[in-house]
Formats: sequence, structure tokens, C-alpha cells
Amino acid sequence: MPQRKAIFVANWKMYKTNGECISFIEKFLPQLKSDHEIVIAPPFVALEPMSKKLKGAKVALAAQNIFYEDEGAFTGEISPLMAKQFCKYAIIGHSERRHIFNETNYDVNKKVSKAFEHGLLPILCIGETLGQKNENKTEKILESQLLSALKNANKEKLSELVVAYEPVWAISKGKTDTKTKAATPEDAQAAHSFIRGLIKKNFGSNISESIRIAYGGSANTGNSGSLLSRKDVDGLLIGGASLDPEKFLQIIKSRR
Ligand code: PGA
Repeated sequence: MPQRKAIFVANWKMYKTNGECISFIEKFLPQLKSDHEIVIAPPFVALEPMSKKLKGAKVALAAQNIFYEDEGAFTGEISPLMAKQFCKYAIIGHSERRHIFNETNYDVNKKVSKAFEHGLLPILCIGETLGQKNENKTEKILESQLLSALKNANKEKLSELVVAYEPVWAISKGKTDTKTKAATPEDAQAAHSFIRGLIKKNFGSNISESIRIAYGGSANTGNSGSLLSRKDVDGLLIGGASLDPEKFLQIIKSRR
């Protein structure tokens, strides 16, 4: 069985000016001693200064979103070619994109294909809302989001996909939210194992054993160790707790 390298993605959402991004890196980098894969998704305007500051460091950048055209009259959008100048990864289908900005499974599918076409690796977010969980529809939702996103996907590239299981009800409302609770390690493991099974059934076991499935939703210094101890939890996508360099470092260290 291939050994999957753990991945930690900091999703900074709409937080931090460029100066704040740089001062995070100045505190974070000297203390980072890890063989895990570390990825930061800062605001778009910080990608260039961040990429200069990270030259030679083992930290990759991700776009928080991309559009599915190379260029054109699409005010406010970022093309994969623009993101590609600085980023290895692109977060696609984040629940805030789906629920606040009305992105559909169709949009997500087009974005995933475009990302692969340009050599950007998608971090594909899928997850159920509280209502769907209460109606026992979690598996159905995960299946439809995953399979529609990967419709017509190039199988050769798929093993480099990262899936983020992000139950919508577990995602914090921002950096001051202390009420929202993460999924339990048991629930996260059950969802991850279901997702891996779906990938196996549809794309084969080489791909399902290679793909990394990260958990996201109120991951923090208190729960990261137990989430990461589960067999199919290959990493974390962290919002609020990743804004503080000390907390992000502690979370990374919690994976042995
Ligand atoms: P959170 O965000 O860690 O603040 O809950 C996770 C995410 O939305 O990716």
C-alpha cells in the first residue's frame, strides 16, 4: 500500500493584509520542521509577495478558488493561468463558494477539469449541510458531489487530487467563532472511508489508495491529534486556527 504523505492546508479566507501574511511567514518558517506537506491559501493579492517570501521553503501555495476559463470578460474572477504563476494547488468547491456564491456541482466539475488541464492540483471540497446530515443523506450528498466533480476526469492525473471532507455544519463562522464543533474522529473516519470506497469503485484501488483525503471543519490544536490518528484521515484543511502561526505549527506537529 502506498504511504500517503500527510497534508495540512491553511485556508485564510478573507483574512490578513499582505503585511500580516508576511509577518505570519516570518514567525512560522523558522519554527517549521516537518516532512508533511504544508500548503497555504492566502488572499489572491498576497500570492505574489508570499511566493517571494517562501522561495526555497517547503511550503506550497494554493488559490482559494479559480474560474473555469483561461481568460475573458469575467469581472472579478481569477483564471487558472493566473493562479498557476504562484500556486501548486487550487481549492475548488469550498462550501462558502457553494452556499454564499451559489456555485453548483456543474461549476465545480468545470473548475476541476480546468485545474488539471493547467497542472494545478485541485483540493476538492465536499460535505453535507446539517439538514442533510439530519435526514441521513450524508452519503448520498458525498457521492453526488464527488462523482459530479470528477465526471470525465483524466484518470492519469486523478491520484494527485486531494479531497477535503468538510461537513458544512462543522465549519466555523470565522476566527471569533468558538461555538462550532468539529466532527468526531469516528464520524470523520466513517465519511473518509466511504469517500475512499467510492473512489475505489469508480476509479480503481491504485487511485483510491493514493488520493489523500483531508478533514476540514473546526480543526484545532485540541482535536487535531485524534482526527489525524484515524486511518483514512490524511491531513487537515484548517481555517480559523491556521491564522495563528503557533497554532498552525502545533496542529502540524500533532501528526506523528
Ligand atoms: P474552520 O474552516 O477551520 O475555520 O472551520 C475550515 C474550512 O472552511 O476550510
